[in-house]
Amino acid sequence: MAADALAELAKRRGFFFGSNGAYGGTAGFYTFGPQGAALKRNVEDAWRDRFTLREGNREIEAPTVMPEAVFEASGHLEGFDDMLVECPECGESHRADHLVEAVTDIEDAEALPGEDVEDLIADNEIACPACGTMLAGEPVEAFNLMFATDIGPGDAQPGYLRPETAQGIFVEFPRLKEYARGNLPFGITQIGPAYRNEISPRGGLLRLREFTQAELEQFIDPEEDEPPLDRVRDVEVRLYPATEQEADDGEYVETTVGEAVDEGVIGSPWVGYYLGVAKEWYDRIGVDTDRFRFRQHLAGERAHYAADCWDAESEVDGDWIEIAGFSYRADYDLSKHDEYGDDAFTVFKRYDEPKTVERATVDPDMSVLGPEFGGEAAAVAEALETLAERDPDAFDGETVEVTVGEGDDAESHAVDVDVADFAIEEVTESGEHITPHVVEPSFGVGRTVQTLLAHAYSEDEVDGESRTYLSLEPEVAPQDAAVFPLVTNDDRLTALADEVAADLRAAGLAVAYDDSGSIGRRYRRQDEVGTPFCVTVDRDGIEGDGPDTVTLRERDSAAQVRIPVADLAEELTALRGDEPFASVAERYDAVDTDVETAGN
Ligand code: GAP
Repeated sequence: MAADALAELAKRRGFFFGSNGAYGGTAGFYTFGPQGAALKRNVEDAWRDRFTLREGNREIEAPTVMPEAVFEASGHLEGFDDMLVECPECGESHRADHLVEAVTDIEDAEALPGEDVEDLIADNEIACPACGTMLAGEPVEAFNLMFATDIGPGDAQPGYLRPETAQGIFVEFPRLKEYARGNLPFGITQIGPAYRNEISPRGGLLRLREFTQAELEQFIDPEEDEPPLDRVRDVEVRLYPATEQEADDGEYVETTVGEAVDEGVIGSPWVGYYLGVAKEWYDRIGVDTDRFRFRQHLAGERAHYAADCWDAESEVDGDWIEIAGFSYRADYDLSKHDEYGDDAFTVFKRYDEPKTVERATVDPDMSVLGPEFGGEAAAVAEALETLAERDPDAFDGETVEVTVGEGDDAESHAVDVDVADFAIEEVTESGEHITPHVVEPSFGVGRTVQTLLAHAYSEDEVDGESRTYLSLEPEVAPQDAAVFPLVTNDDRLTALADEVAADLRAAGLAVAYDDSGSIGRRYRRQDEVGTPFCVTVDRDGIEGDGPDTVTLRERDSAAQVRIPVADLAEELTALRGDEPFASVAERYDAVDTDVETAGN
């Protein structure tokens, strides 16, 4: 489906549209309308069900504004940049790497040094896409994507809108580990907004400045913890490993999760496990798995924190888009926060049996160090302790050298080993402090929504008329059902339709009510927003002595059955789960479609 048609449908039918239109619009910000907000919420609920509840993980909600120190530690202040080139004529900003990728075979220009990208812009005579002015000679600069803000008035503390929800989980690790009683592995999830001041937002929900992420941070002991790989061992996956992308005749590897992990195509079993879980989940919510793959990042493409990364990619309008990333972040984040923060970002790992180990100790004689080193005596004593732990052999001679201070202020001092009082002691240890590793499945909710709409978009003919419909899975469709009175000039019939809608809503279903226009037109309106089932209240259903009945129509097949009103809520609830329409239809009488669509 063409991107324009989807954008038009999304706006007309209330899925999503550019924000602040009355003020000229703001690039990179989108508002979800009633249909879109419901679809997005259902996707989030389905994600929560799979990645939080069924995995036994816990969900948190952290603030979106965080102080600068967090991003100094995380590396975002230093390295969360994109390549910016500005047009000297019209002033438009562009992603320099994207301009280069569009006209060359290079797939990850982001990994190149800025000067190389400047050369490529000149060599390929790349012009400004907005006004056509040549960009040769214009500097390519690193542009930090974080939105800066001030926390508090006056001498405010600098802060930033979080560029990933993940940091809200990492900084709270010292407390979160307590809730897990210090036991690994455990997983924490979060669904919420993230902000990136993208240089060139584009493609509807694809590249926004404010977007929703659903992230899971799985904390593991890398030495011991294994994922429950058997649960997804047989899940079929289409992989596009880095080696295949680099080869001239590179191909997809069609395999199973189990095989890919056994053969080392996927390096980490944890990453493999979550690729399998994700593939099943995408299938469940309606991603077309023939238009879906997992692509490994090339070495130069990986984020500063990632030791390995696979992206889930979906095909939308002829392009592959990244809808989720699965990173092995190792101990990068927790080590950084341990170094910069005031708390311990480690867990205590208890040994099965206490161990007796030799430990080098010092007990510096301060009555000697004090007069000799004055104000630096404490720092010298601390340096002796650190050295004893790190390099006990340094104490083999009569004196030992320690360095105090850093950089230009660093000074070396010789200390008598006798004064240091170096010794090797035997100690019994019950465990050790380790820094957990992190495996991170990170999903873009908006990109998932856009994929679902693109993959659900269908056209066919019903009763000789062409129609457009969204074959969204019942679990995520904005509405579970729509209720129509066939005609509006019969009080008994409209009263029953009102009652049916109210009963279904009371049963927890999202129900639309439509009594305007021909019944065929009403079906089309619901088809276009992906409502999976329509309930029509007609005279046939209220005449006679039997219980009241209505017709129930399934969107994709347009097939209808006549069903007692009393059964509706239960059957629709089952259909919203994973009960197929065919098995419900078996229990009821089929209705001739032509009769119903000719109504009103
Ligand atoms: N914590 C890891 C992380 O943030 P990422 O690959 O930068 O990784 C994860 O982002 C997901 O968030 C992406 O796969 C994508 O679906 C979504 N995403 C990232 N930037 C986005 C943007 N500007 N607009 C919409 N979605 C975005």
